[in-house]
Amino acid sequence: MSSGFEAIVWKENKIVLLDQTQIPISETYISYDELAPYIDAIQRLVVRGAPALGVAGAYGVVLVIDEAARKGHSAQELEHNLDLLRDARPTAVNLAWAVEKIRKHLPEGRDAVLAAAHQLASEDKQSSTDMGNIGADWLINKLGSKPMTLLTHCNTGSLATTGTGTALGVIKEMHKRGFVKEVYADETRPLLQGSRLTAWELMKSDIPYHIEPDGAAAMAILSGRIDAALIGADRIAKNGDSANKIGSLSVALACHAAGIPFLVVAPESTVDRSIKTGSEIHIEIRGDEELTHFKGIQVAPIGAKTFNPAFDVTPAKYISAVITEKHSYEIAEGQTL
Ligand code: MRU
Repeated sequence: MSSGFEAIVWKENKIVLLDQTQIPISETYISYDELAPYIDAIQRLVVRGAPALGVAGAYGVVLVIDEAARKGHSAQELEHNLDLLRDARPTAVNLAWAVEKIRKHLPEGRDAVLAAAHQLASEDKQSSTDMGNIGADWLINKLGSKPMTLLTHCNTGSLATTGTGTALGVIKEMHKRGFVKEVYADETRPLLQGSRLTAWELMKSDIPYHIEPDGAAAMAILSGRIDAALIGADRIAKNGDSANKIGSLSVALACHAAGIPFLVVAPESTVDRSIKTGSEIHIEIRGDEELTHFKGIQVAPIGAKTFNPAFDVTPAKYISAVITEKHSYEIAEGQTL
């Protein structure tokens, strides 16, 4: 494993997560073999990022089976626990997709379920490599063979996948080819996936970067500092509308105004062809404390009401291309993925 860490692994019949709430201060691994604390970890973003959540769902099915065997759960309880796991976070389709895909192997027995989960994890890793290559080819084809300044939002790297990443995977591939001047990483309010996680990965990969507040992205883009922006996705509708971390839409609008490429990079498993447009995407709304408190200290007036959506939806018309491990889709009006 090239990055020197793994966001999620199956080890000694437990799921081991790198605790992303503690990065970059400490690299702490936590093992799980019970569903309740595992769901809590998913909801607190100990593990996060759509593809990693898919892998978390896949191994979570084995965790549920093992816990059921230890505690003598009925078949009905086991199925109920799988539903709880599937629904732990609503927006990233990869979680539900992986749970449903892997639970189909239940009749074949526990070891077959584990083998299917391992297979899903290894396909996820390969998809990072393939997205990296397709995305880098797209950028070079569009902008030429030159060092570029690239902007990204949230964290879409090895912490969010089992490989190099989606958008950050493309950036790492561009760096390998010698075409990254520097990266502007949006801090990504309110949980700071950009300034804590993306900056940490960029530092480890020796890629020059600045972190910036989310509110600086439009200025950076319109002032001509940025050649292209790349983000990941949590769910992509059939028409190309893409849900991603809150603040992604503002980046897309600024890129549209500046006339620079805005790429969405995500595996095919993030494309949800069962929904026609982004208006059907369930957006996770998170708790008040993420906004009213900072490190446990109240920073807003007591009783302040919040609007804290974890994701927004960028309409397809503002997306230059969707990059998957199979294709680069440039979606014209009225076309679908
Ligand atoms: O709330 P998070 O940190 O799970 O949100 C993650 C994102 O929005 C990512 O950009 C997305 O899942 C793609 S990760 C390759």
